[in-house]
Amino acid sequence: MITWNTSLETGNAVVDRDHQALINQINALEDALKMDATREELGPMIVFLNQYAREHFVREEGIMRTVQCPASGQNCTAHRALIGKLNTWVARLKAGGATTSLGVDVYREMGDWLQEHIVKVDCQLRTCQPG
Ligand SMILES: [Fe+2]
Repeated sequence: MITWNTSLETGNAVVDRDHQALINQINALEDALKMDATREELGPMIVFLNQYAREHFVREEGIMRTVQCPASGQNCTAHRALIGKLNTWVARLKAGGATTSLGVDVYREMGDWLQEHIVKVDCQLRTCQPG
């Protein structure tokens, strides 16, 4: 369970709202796995995380460019690394369905990646907010 806290706040309302939505869905996936959810239940959660993460990256990269955040390039590079992971998870989903082991990998790896990424990269937005 990832708990939202001030160390995850970038100070940008759009980015913070996106991050909270991603964390809520990662937590929901963890809960579903604990309750031995079926592939039919896990599938849409993994699909949502894949789509929402990609949409969020586009939004956030645009915001960083607009405010000329020095972390912009570093952020894009990091996003591409997670997109590589997302691609492998989508391939596994298509090949074998939403297995528990796929759900566990998505929950653990995406959860760990997201928390560290927000703190180390996205929070550099704090120093480059207009006003
Ligand atoms: Fe980011």
